[in-house]
Amino acid sequence: MKINFVTGDKIAETSSKGNQEKWFDAVSDTWYKLDQFGYEALSEAVISRLLEKSNIENNFPFNFVRYDVKNVTAHKHKRTACSSKNFLRDGQAIITLSHLFARIIDIPLKNMLERLSSDKKRIAYIAEKTAEFTGLELFPQYLTLIFEIDALFLNDDRHLNNIALLECDGKYDYCPIFDNGAGLLSNTQLYRMDIEPKALMREVYARPFNTTFNRQRNTAESLYGKQLKIPAFTSTEIETVLKHFLEFYPERDRGIITDRVTVCILERQKL
Ligand SMILES: Nc1ncnc2c1ncn2[C@@H]1O[C@H](COP(=O)(O)OP(=O)(O)O)[C@@H](O)[C@H]1O
Ligand SMILES: [Mg+2]
Repeated sequence: MKINFVTGDKIAETSSKGNQEKWFDAVSDTWYKLDQFGYEALSEAVISRLLEKSNIENNFPFNFVRYDVKNVTAHKHKRTACSSKNFLRDGQAIITLSHLFARIIDIPLKNMLERLSSDKKRIAYIAEKTAEFTGLELFPQYLTLIFEIDALFLNDDRHLNNIALLECDGKYDYCPIFDNGAGLLSNTQLYRMDIEPKALMREVYARPFNTTFNRQRNTAESLYGKQLKIPAFTSTEIETVLKHFLEFYPERDRGIITDRVTVCILERQKL
């Protein structure tokens, strides 16, 4: 399939780490997001493939977005992008946590959180206020699950616009978990290719609370219990999943990407 994007189609979106250019193709009902700092598309795809082996699909009323990697032509250049099926149904809108809280409280959520004295109180505040306001009783478990996924794959981009809900006619629903592309050390500008992965991993901090991944995950689990069940992966299993997506990246980088992704998952799943 030939996928061609030009400037006029661009949908401007910003995230805390710059803005991955993205397009929505109405014909195929699919979103495309270009790689910007490294191998984000590969990370999205690998993480969603591995999450298929978890308890999420069968145990919860919420799910995660499936991503694939595609070659696209954007602004006349060959680029790598991740694709995902539009998860919004007719009449549904996505509303991020920042936006939701703007409806609930009269100061920005960030400022409200700064007033609280511990991460435990901050997590409880977000989890329980959201559940109360939307009627989504399992939102605390949903939030815990997100922090568990981020801790496993070292995704440091879980800001308050990467946690969201769906809204339709004033009723809320869980949003499929999306935007894991910053995981697995994909930002090769920040996490350089010539530094060994274990050293890089020590520099990555969890968001939204700027603490360690273990602490953020453990705090949520101490409040709401463990949610994610996922088998420990062997390096062969990880490489089998990776194999599908490496071909989208230059041959010279494939070995180092394999090493980074494998070390990252093998190390993180121990903790
Ligand atoms: N599969 C999808 N279905 C519906 N909306 C999507 C999809 N993928 C992206 N979007 C829209 O694009 C926004 C940004 O997507 P995200 O994956 O967070 O990109 P970024 O990495 O640039 O932050 C989302 O908040 C949502 O509005
Ligand atoms: Mg995002």
